Amino acid sequence: ASYDMGGHDTYMHKEISEQPDAVDRVLRGRIDDRFNTVHLGGLNLDPREARGIRRVKILGCGTSYHAGLIGAGLIESLARIPADAEPASEFRYRNPVVDPDTLYIAVSQSGETYDVLAAVQELKRKGGRVLGVVNVVGSAIAREADGGTYVHAGPEVCVVSTKCFTNTVVAFALIALHLGRIRDLSVAEGRRIIEGLRKLPGQISEILETEGEIKKLAEQYADAKSMMFIGRVRGYPVALEASLKLKEISYIHAEAYPASELKHGPLALIEPALPTVAIVPDDELLEKNRAAMEEIKARSGRILAVAHREQEKADHTIVVPKNEDELDPILMGIPLQLLAYHTALALGRDIDKPRNLAKSVTVE
Ligand code: G6P
Repeated sequence: ASYDMGGHDTYMHKEISEQPDAVDRVLRGRIDDRFNTVHLGGLNLDPREARGIRRVKILGCGTSYHAGLIGAGLIESLARIPADAEPASEFRYRNPVVDPDTLYIAVSQSGETYDVLAAVQELKRKGGRVLGVVNVVGSAIAREADGGTYVHAGPEVCVVSTKCFTNTVVAFALIALHLGRIRDLSVAEGRRIIEGLRKLPGQISEILETEGEIKKLAEQYADAKSMMFIGRVRGYPVALEASLKLKEISYIHAEAYPASELKHGPLALIEPALPTVAIVPDDELLEKNRAAMEEIKARSGRILAVAHREQEKADHTIVVPKNEDELDPILMGIPLQLLAYHTALALGRDIDKPRNLAKSVTVE
């Protein structure tokens, strides 16, 4: 399919720019201000069943797997159900124990990724309950699942996913809030998250307005042969996704590490030629993240921080607006999409069609 680029030079740029509207769409019609909860009828879960869930396992590939990692964190913190995410193919090939009290969630933009579809089929064959968090309506994974929610990102043409990633994470915030309010999340806490969700489209627009500064930074870091991305807890999947995006479209090698693991190996790599992007939210881990930046500085590493205020330990800071701690990862990912984009542009890459990659991988 080909869609109008609407004045943008690439689909990727168009899709990054569409995020305020896309997020508005995934929220629309789903928030219940009377009970401070969310309606997601497509989940086909009645409250009694929802209370019986003892674990959540999220499956996906690539960027959708990363969205699932953030989703697992949201479900664990808001609904207090143990949750984790795993690449769909890894799950399938380790002959997983399929547990009737586990809720399985398959994540896919296209709804056609073979590894995810095959995992869903394997789960269903073993009697597992599987929901889909999918963008393309009526796709194979959406049809196979027992229920689910569409993320309503709209058509995504660029091979690498941006707006669908963001919308998928917002959809997970809705699912987490829904499950949380059936379980132990209070009315006041439900209200706090709803207010945070409503701020997202405006805050994403604010970030997009800083594109000129991010472009300049990208041009300064584009000569790197390799880049390190670090974060902790909620920030770690943001680092993983940002490093994937950079690899996919700029072909610069990048790896993501939990900041706390630096001292167990990757610190040996730090030198001026290996810059680090640090995810530094203003939350309970701020001091820990600052200490990690100090360790990098002590080895003369360059640091670009994504933070809620200027970081004096960093060489440069991209300042993003603060939301509720749980929702911060959604906003912190946005400038890093632009960083990858402008790095790839500076290097003259074919951004919408990176070499060796396909938009959806429907074979094994
Ligand atoms: C391909 C794409 C990735 C995408 C992954 C999963 O590898 O290049 O950008 O994240 O498939 O795709 P899905 O449609 O299942 O989200």
